[in-house]
Amino acid sequence: MPTRRLSVSIVGLGYVGLCTAVTFASRGFPTLGVDIDSRRIKAIEKGETPFHEPRLDRLLKRGLRSKLLRVSDDASSAAEAEAIYIAVGTPSRRDGSINLEYVEGAARQIGASIRDIHGYRLVIVKSTVIPGTTSSKVKPILEENAKKKVGPQMGLCVNPEFLSEGTAIRNALYPDKLVIGASDEQSGSRLRKIYRAFYGGKLPPTIMTNPETAELIKYSSNAFLATKVSYINTMANLAQEVPGVDVESLAEAIGLDPRIGPLFLRAGPGYGGSCFHKDLQAIISYGRKVGYEPTLLREVEQVNEQQAARVVGLAESLLGELNEKRVAVLGIAFKKDTDDIREAASLRVIDLLRKRGAQVVVYDPMAMPNAKAVFEQSVEYATSPKAAINEADCCIVMTEWDEFRKLKAKDYAQLMRSPNIVDARRIYEAADFETVNFRAIGLGDRMS
Ligand code: UGA
Repeated sequence: MPTRRLSVSIVGLGYVGLCTAVTFASRGFPTLGVDIDSRRIKAIEKGETPFHEPRLDRLLKRGLRSKLLRVSDDASSAAEAEAIYIAVGTPSRRDGSINLEYVEGAARQIGASIRDIHGYRLVIVKSTVIPGTTSSKVKPILEENAKKKVGPQMGLCVNPEFLSEGTAIRNALYPDKLVIGASDEQSGSRLRKIYRAFYGGKLPPTIMTNPETAELIKYSSNAFLATKVSYINTMANLAQEVPGVDVESLAEAIGLDPRIGPLFLRAGPGYGGSCFHKDLQAIISYGRKVGYEPTLLREVEQVNEQQAARVVGLAESLLGELNEKRVAVLGIAFKKDTDDIREAASLRVIDLLRKRGAQVVVYDPMAMPNAKAVFEQSVEYATSPKAAINEADCCIVMTEWDEFRKLKAKDYAQLMRSPNIVDARRIYEAADFETVNFRAIGLGDRMS
């Protein structure tokens, strides 16, 4: 007879919430996923995933079939479970600061539904929130609505997530670390117990700390990763100015130094995705509020923003004026294996291309529906990479999809009006592209 698992509920079935919910169910926890969007709930109930994520589809269907996973649009049902995760979005306001409206709303509803419950309930903040949010906002809202104090009757922890899109399920099942910011000892030990059951008795390296530190750890992690990307892009931009220099050799060499490490040193068109830009803006804005201007992080963002112009500059170095030129953009997603285009570098590049009068034709293996919703009639949509480059004056590779690697120099030469290729992701070997006009991020011009 298996030991009884605690039940968990997850409020907010966005990216983090849904991936967390299916992994809990996959490990035998009775799990309730809650979202106020009833259309989303109806789709999830039928086993339809609202976004693409490897393994999510299978785990969702399996969870629903086993009845370990249930979903509901009734927020008051969340308190049925003993552990209640808040995983709602924390978008940016216009000025970059964090919008906590959904977190506060979730805390209010969870508090109200805990009110008539006699047993202990543990509330866990998984949403990314600026330091102090859990203690100074979530806690009083919960206490006021539940008419209970955090302590003997109700627990409260911060437990940030470090899932990356494309590997979210693997990251949730085999994380490098857990971070638990506990409001009191009991909350922390209860959450550790849940994870001990989840990870089969052996916890991943676990940092036990206070809520504020846990909140800041999440921002520090994303800010550091974003800094690495802007750093290597800075080096790429320098390398590109020197004939014969290649940022890839540079990255490989510095990455061998264990103090630097090899990961997140891929030069490219700049980071995208729903997290880095939003989180950097939020922490910069928070810094200002508390009287410290994090100038380093401002620069990280600026380098990232400017990278789009570097990509377009490479196209101009091959073509001259872009006005009325047909430019194929291969890849819209912010990285491969996702249909997510939020904050993708491709959006900034396409915007610049259009401002310079280029006719843009786009192709992405997964993100076409999302691209169509954003660009509408302003660009053309191709049905394959070859159709996109057909009769184009220039092609810019914006996402490192495996499918694009299959295109050879001769395909470009045969199909394009003139074979001008900008590899903004470094997917091609320059040596294989000597027969066409080829420029790449971080690759100095050929030595004559
Ligand atoms: C990021 C973090 O990696 C996760 O740890 C974190 O949990 C998540 O944000 C979040 O806060 O939810 P994600 O946005 O899915 O995950 O994507 P990453 O794999 O980190 O890539 C971000 C961007 O940086 C992509 O556009 C990627 O192409 C770019 N990148 C990454 C580079 O340009 N070069 C690199 O070497 C690495």
